[in-house]
Amino acid sequence: MIIETIVSTISADGAPNFAPMGARIAKEGQWSIVVYHGSRTYQNLRASRSCVINLASDVRLFVLTALDDHTPAYKMAATAKGATMDDADEALDFVVKSEMEMDGKTEFIGRITGRRVIKTPAAGYCRARGAVIEALITVTRKGVLPDSQIVDQLGRSRVIVDKTGGAEELEAMELIEKHWSEND
Ligand SMILES: Cc1cc2nc3c(=O)[nH]c(=O)nc-3n(C[C@H](O)[C@H](O)[C@H](O)COP(=O)(O)O)c2cc1C
Repeated sequence: MIIETIVSTISADGAPNFAPMGARIAKEGQWSIVVYHGSRTYQNLRASRSCVINLASDVRLFVLTALDDHTPAYKMAATAKGATMDDADEALDFVVKSEMEMDGKTEFIGRITGRRVIKTPAAGYCRARGAVIEALITVTRKGVLPDSQIVDQLGRSRVIVDKTGGAEELEAMELIEKHWSEND
């Protein structure tokens, strides 16, 4: 299973970096992150071999860290080379144990060595959150996916967000649409 998370790493100058990343739960206690070369997350993780995996239910955090190079409110983790987002639901300390090189990306395989629960999200499944994440992923693949596919996904996501979303999901969807119209 892959969970969409926000990974925080620390650069050589000590600044925290935040980027959405899919984290794979491989087997009991073992997690992995597949990171494209060329990203700051890759450079930082390669050097420090440790990060904080932030689990978040507020989709605005994914949108802001993906599209705007936004630095959310955070606290440096004491036990990992990364930062805990104040608005995350949970923060997991991740330590790399091995790496697997792939074409243009590396799988970092490791263990969760610490866990902090920050808040408990509302229970239950909200379709609008998934719709926002799908829209965000297509927009970040501009130039890789045909524009028509991105426009289709934005339209489908908008319908679901209007039907099932709350204020957070509506705001997140608006940020994605604004980014798309400004960069189209
Ligand atoms: C929901 C979501 C999931 C993503 N998952 C990954 C991933 O698993 N691996 C990856 O390399 N990039 C992934 N990305 C893309 C990175 O977040 C994006 O390239 C980002 O700009 C990297 O930022 P950085 O240079 O600060 O590390 C994902 C993006 C989104 C929106």
